[in-house]
Parts: sequence; structure tokens; C-alpha cells
Amino acid sequence: MTYVVTSVGLTDIMQLRVAVLRKGTPATDCNYPEDAYPDVVHFGIIRDGTAIATSSWFMKECPEIPGVSAMQLKGMAIADELQGAGLGALLINAGVELANERGATIAWARARDSAIGFYERLGFVSTGDGFMDGPTAMPHHIVVRTL
Ligand SMILES: CC(C)(COP(=O)(O)OP(=O)(O)OC[C@H]1O[C@@H](n2cnc3c(N)ncnc32)[C@H](O)[C@@H]1OP(=O)(O)O)[C@@H](O)C(=O)NCCC(=O)NCCS
Repeated sequence: MTYVVTSVGLTDIMQLRVAVLRKGTPATDCNYPEDAYPDVVHFGIIRDGTAIATSSWFMKECPEIPGVSAMQLKGMAIADELQGAGLGALLINAGVELANERGATIAWARARDSAIGFYERLGFVSTGDGFMDGPTAMPHHIVVRTL
């Protein structure tokens, strides 16, 4: 099976975001303020008309590295049954390409601790103190990849 990453609409990915990123958390919706940013790009992998993988990318300064041109990714979610099949890596590659096109020096994310190993495999480094994310009540760290 060949998977292709494309730019999609927010409505195409919302069901997947909620299913994957809000499972087992107190939160039920998965809207981000950054969804309204004019430069936001929602990446998706669509199979049979349904999103099976997604992440959203936009320019935003990293609080751990102020003053540096930075692209943040958020809403990284792979359908449960397809996790571990390389789809997350495809999304990171697409986002890094976008970040380079936009002139970013770094890409960064607020990573839940259970996913830090994934980001490290993709060239990110955990930085700063851990913190609890509000909506999910899960421990997180900021992860940064130099481009
Ligand atoms: C975390 C997540 C995005 C990773 O995507 P994925 O498609 O499952 O990951 P991939 O198959 O592309 O894995 C790429 C590499 O990272 C590793 N990896 C994936 N998830 C990992 C994890 N949670 N911990 C450690 N390593 C991980 C894989 O083994 C693989 O390594 P390899 O190159 O040596 O084979 C996905 O599992 C997911 O949606 N999880 C639930 C939601 C979540 O945690 N999202 C992130 C919020 S910050």
C-alpha cells in the first residue's frame, strides 16, 4: 500500500483528531486556536475517503528557543490500527519540507511523553522541563528538530 500525504481541510481530520488524541482524556473536542492561523497547513493521509493520519503545521515561536524562525506541529494522530506502520514519519517528512520552504530554522512540538521516542527517531530532541497539558492532563515536553 502506498500512502500519500496531502494538504486537507480541518473538517477532514477532526474525527481522527478526536478519536486518537482525546481517547482516555477529560477533553472531548480537539480544536486548536492555531487552526485559525492564516498559514496553517493540515496534512492528511486519506484512505477510502477517511483520514487515517494527520498533523497540522504553522509558524510559531518556540518558547524554549525564542527569537528563532520556527514551525510548530500539532495534532499528530495516526489511526489506532495503523500506528507503527511509518505514517507518522511520512507526516514529519512532509512538515519538515514545508518548514524548509517557509524558511524555518527549527520545527517543534509539545510532545506527550509517551510519544517522545517517536520524535527522537525523527531527529527531535527533548528540551526544557516537563509540564502537564491542560486538555489531556498528560505529561509533556517540548521537542525540537534543527532544520
Ligand atoms: C505517536 C504517533 C504519532 C507515531 O506515529 P506512527 O505512525 O505510529 O510512527 P511510525 O510508524 O512512523 O514510527 C517511526 C519510528 O518511531 C518509532 N515510534 C513510533 N511511536 C513510538 C513511540 N510512542 N515511542 C517510541 N518510538 C516510537 C517507530 O518504532 C519507528 O522507529 P523505526 O524507524 O526504528 O522503525 C502515533 O503512534 C500516534 O498517533 N499515537 C497516538 C497519539 C499520539 O501520541 N500523538 C502524538 C501526540 S504529541
